[in-house]
Order: sequence, then structure tokens, then C-alpha cells
Amino acid sequence: MTPFGREAFTRLTESSGSKRQQEIYLGGARGRKPAVPTAFPGLEARARKKMSRRAFAYVAGGAGLESTIDANRDAFERWRIVPRVFHDVSERDTSVELFGRRFSTPFLLAPVGVLALAHADGDLAAARGAAAEGVPFIFSNQASVPMEACAAAMGGGARWFQLYWSTSDEVVRSFVRRAEDCGCEAIVATLDTTLFGWRPRDLDLAFLPFMYGAGIAQYTSDPVFMHLLETTAAPVAVPRGRVTPAMLRTFVRQARAHPGTFWSNVRSGRPLRAVSQFVRTYSRPSLTWKDVAFLRGLTDLPILLKGVLHIDDARTAAEHGIDGIVVSNHGGRQVDGAIASLDVLPEIDDAVGARLTVLLDSGVRGGADAFKALALGARAVLVGRPYVYGLALAGETGVREVIRNLLADFDLTMGLAGCPSIADITPQALRRSG
Ligand code: FNR
Repeated sequence: MTPFGREAFTRLTESSGSKRQQEIYLGGARGRKPAVPTAFPGLEARARKKMSRRAFAYVAGGAGLESTIDANRDAFERWRIVPRVFHDVSERDTSVELFGRRFSTPFLLAPVGVLALAHADGDLAAARGAAAEGVPFIFSNQASVPMEACAAAMGGGARWFQLYWSTSDEVVRSFVRRAEDCGCEAIVATLDTTLFGWRPRDLDLAFLPFMYGAGIAQYTSDPVFMHLLETTAAPVAVPRGRVTPAMLRTFVRQARAHPGTFWSNVRSGRPLRAVSQFVRTYSRPSLTWKDVAFLRGLTDLPILLKGVLHIDDARTAAEHGIDGIVVSNHGGRQVDGAIASLDVLPEIDDAVGARLTVLLDSGVRGGADAFKALALGARAVLVGRPYVYGLALAGETGVREVIRNLLADFDLTMGLAGCPSIADITPQALRRSG
């Protein structure tokens, strides 16, 4: 037996939390540190140093005074875990079932647009990382890579598709069909972004990635969107006056981001037209409950509505044949001063938990947060920024480490709280403080 060999730790091994600790401590004994910091504050601080100012602002920022980001954290802090003793937790089962498929963890990677801002491998690295760790990846409607390429990178890994409901029914239909064809197992319609939130960090840098053709790959790879582009696109309003170096750089970035060769893109002018067409198409603020039937009619896949925060909306979703909801305030990026998603979770779960699969996101930063969300009724949680920072720091490895750290932290929290299975995580495991 070597002093730092596996055998030395066999008694610790049998859970994912202990395995992850073992891996890290064994690595340390060999002079290796984890690729990314294991707790969120360090992760964010390191990513901030690595990312460009614009990229970090886009990922970290929130709406207005960012009070919703704070509210999300405060909500988690207000609940405290009350650990129990003498509960046999030598074996723990962290698995959950979602829409008939069992997953070894209650974590999903949230849909995050423009992952190429964080790392050149962007969505592909996240897709591979999620598949390798057995965590579902929700492809963003604003991805930097077409969903088919991400699906191909995932093998049998679970993937869902997040839809922004555009002004074109035909584009919506096409996206949903493509999602079905590339093996997505659910459609997540995000409803809290029919208008774009007021985001001062991006506004102060005058930076919106879509302007540069970034994050519109689902559109530029879509035959229906591209047909619309060729047949109906209104002429592009080119800014008047002197052509500035910044304008030229923007055109170059658009031409690079667009499929096809750089020079053919420059000649055709298609990238600029695609950006303009995207801006016109992307969102439909006129949506009402009447539109749900259209989406329901498009697919037999489970449909989840993301961005639900009101108990009546949750009830109405259940009445419209919806399968699940993501209780979410978009990580505080849309409505400044909005309620924390965790704060509405218990009442929403009481009202619809028996009929709908209730998921939660916004502010999940560690295992204890996932524990609290599950105790208050969520079936699973989505994480956003944590994996984006992992991606920024170390690509696929970073994504994988973030997932493993979250799961390890969750598994150990569960065990130390006296809960051998997810079913044991109930409201009785928590006390509201203050
Ligand atoms: C997002 N989110 C998001 N949601 C969505 O439905 N479609 C999208 O394209 C995006 N894009 C996006 C970009 C960035 C940079 C961030 C940070 C977030 C919201 C995301 O799915 C999720 O709701 C939040 O990220 C959850 O909050 P945390 O975990 O980041 O606090």
C-alpha cells in the first residue's frame, strides 16, 4: 500500500462526497490543487480575473440595483438546516427521477446563453462536462453552438431544450422539432425574458453580445430562420456618418461568428442581416396563456415553464397541460426588486407540487442551498453562474469539477444532516431564522 494510494482511503470512499474529498486530498499529497476553487466566492473571484470585463459583466450582472441577486442569497440564508444524529447515513441515495428518467443527482445545468464569452469551447465543453457527470444540460436558445452539435457531443447524456418564444411560429416550430430530433427530453419555455432586463453593468459598457452575432447559433443554423432572412428581412439600418474602427471590428466579429467562410460572409452582408433579423424575431412580449395550446400542440415532450414566481401562474400552468415549472427569477437578471425564487417555492409547491414537477433556480451556490430547495419542495435545482465560472477557468474540466464539487457538498450535507435519501429531506430538516 502506498502512503497516498487509494487503499489508504477506502473506508472513506463509498459516497460521491467522500470520493471527491479523497480525490482532492490525494491530489494535494501529490502536489496538485483542484482546477477550480471549490466554493463559490473563490470561483467567482478567480473567474473575474480570467474573463474579459465585458464577459464577466454579462455573466455576473443583474437587473437594476441587483437587489434580486441579493434577495436570492438572503432567502437561502434565512433557512437553517437542523442536523439530526443517530440516523444511519453510511449509504446515501442522491438520485431523483424527472419525467421518467432517474438521475444520480438533483442538479441540472441551467440554460445560459453565449457561453463562448466564457470559453472558446463554450457550449460544447458544458455539454461534454454535463454528460460525463450524468447531469442534464439545458441547451440555451441563445447558445453559441447549434443544439445538434451539443447533442452529438453528449452521447446518451440527458439534454433538454430551452425555448425563447419568438415572433415567428414557424421558427418556434422548427426549434422544437430540431430539439426532438437531437434527443432533447423536455422543452423549457422561458417566460421571464419577453423584454430584456435593465442591466447596468452591460449598459455602462454598451455591450450586448448578440450585436456581435454571438449567441444566435440556434437561429443561424435554422433552415426556417435562414429562409425568413433571405425572403423577408427588411433592409438593415446601417448607422450614418463616418465608419469608425469600432464599427469595423463589429462587422469582423459578426462575420466570424456567422456560419460559412469569413470572406463569403463579408461579401454577402448576411451576418449583419442575421443580427437584425434576430433582434426583430427573438421575443414576443404579447404572449398570453392562450398561446400555450400552440406550444402544447407542437410536441409530446414534457413542457416546463421557466420564470414562474406567482402561485396563480403555477396553478394556471397546471390547468394548461404543462408538465413542470422552474421557479426562477433568472438569477436576478430581469426584475430588480423581485421576490427570491426560494421565498415563493413552499407556497407554489403546496399548490401544484402534486401535479407539476417543480424545479428551482436563482442563487444556488452550494450543497446546502440545494438541500434547502429540496426541503421546501423542489424536485431538483438548476445552477447557472457556478458552472459558467468553472467553464471560464478550465473549460470542460472546470465544468466537471464544479458539478462534482456541488454534488459532493450536497451529498455530505445530506449525510451530516441525517438524511440518507432525498425523500428524507423535508421541511422538518429546516428552521427559519431571524
Ligand atoms: C442566463 N439565464 C438564461 N435563462 C434562459 O432561460 N435562457 C438563457 O439563454 C439564459 N441566459 C443566461 C445567461 C447568463 C450569463 C446567465 C447568468 C443566466 C438564466 C439561467 O438559466 C438561470 O435561470 C440563472 O442563471 C440561475 O441563477 P444563478 O444560478 O446564475 O444564480
